[in-house]
Amino acid sequence: MQRPYITCHMVTSLDSKVTGDFLFRKECEKATEVYYDINRSAKCNGFICGRTTMEESFTQGYFPFIENLDEVVDRVDFIPDDLSGFYAVAFDTNGKLGWKSNRIIDDDPGYGGAQVFEVLSENVDGKYLFYLQMLEIPYIFAGETEIDINLALHKLKTIYNIDSLLLEGGSEINGAFERADAIDELSLVIAPVVADKDSKSLFNDSVISDYELIKADTVNGVLVLNYKKI
Ligand SMILES: NC(=O)c1ccc[n+]([C@@H]2O[C@H](COP(=O)([O-])OP(=O)(O)OC[C@H]3O[C@@H](n4cnc5c(N)ncnc54)[C@H](OP(=O)(O)O)[C@@H]3O)[C@@H](O)[C@H]2O)c1
Repeated sequence: MQRPYITCHMVTSLDSKVTGDFLFRKECEKATEVYYDINRSAKCNGFICGRTTMEESFTQGYFPFIENLDEVVDRVDFIPDDLSGFYAVAFDTNGKLGWKSNRIIDDDPGYGGAQVFEVLSENVDGKYLFYLQMLEIPYIFAGETEIDINLALHKLKTIYNIDSLLLEGGSEINGAFERADAIDELSLVIAPVVADKDSKSLFNDSVISDYELIKADTVNGVLVLNYKKI
C-alpha cells in the first residue's frame, strides 16, 4: 500500500521513555535543542502528532463553543483550494482539538506556519466539521470509531501527495504506528537522564519488531541514533 515514508523522531531518556518530567530537567536541555535542530533541517512534508501532544504543544487545551453553530456538514473529506506546503498532521479521533487558525503559530520555524491538517474518525460531531471548514482546515476520515493508521497514510500519499513525514509522538500514537507496521525509520535523541515510573515508553503497548542501526552520531555532546526498519 502506498504511504509516506515515516520517521519517528523523539527525545528519549536513557531508559527509552518519552513522556514526563525528565523532559523539563536542565540535563535534558541540550538533547531538546538537538531534537529541534534536526526537526528544522529534516527534508519532510511535515510532522504528525497524537491529539494529546498537539493539545499540549499548540492548542493549549482550547476548545471552541460549537454548540451555537447551526450548520452540520456531512462526513466527507474536506480539501480547501490552496493546499500546499508543510503539514502539521493531527491524529484527533473524535475532533477534540481547538484550533484558532489553519496555521501553527510558533516561533520555531520547524513548526510555525505549518498547515494544520486533521485526521478524524467518523465519530465526530458535524458541528466540529463546520468549525474546521470555517477555519479552512483540511480533514480526512480514516475509520468509524478509531483511526485506521494505514488508511490515513494511504490517503495522505495518494490524495495529497505527501511523501515523507516525521512522527513526533507521543507514546500512544507512536505505539499505534508501530503496531500498524507504519514506521520506516527511528531518529532518537538520547537525553542523559533516567525517567520516573510514570513516564511512558517510546511505543506504548508495543509489539516485537526489528530495526538495524544505520547511523550513530554525537551532536553537541548528545547521542543521536538512527535505525531503519528491517
Ligand atoms: N520525547 C519527545 O520527543 C516527545 C515528543 C512529543 C510528545 N512528547 C510527550 O508525549 C506526551 C503525550 O503523549 P501521549 O502518549 O500521552 O499521547 P499522544 O500519543 O500524543 O496522543 C494520544 C492520543 O492521540 C489520539 N489518537 C488518534 N489516533 C490514534 C490511534 N490510532 N492510536 C492511539 N491514539 C490515537 C487519541 O486521542 P483521543 O484521546 O482524543 O482519542 C490518543 O489519546 C506529552 O506530554 C509530551 O510531553 C514527547
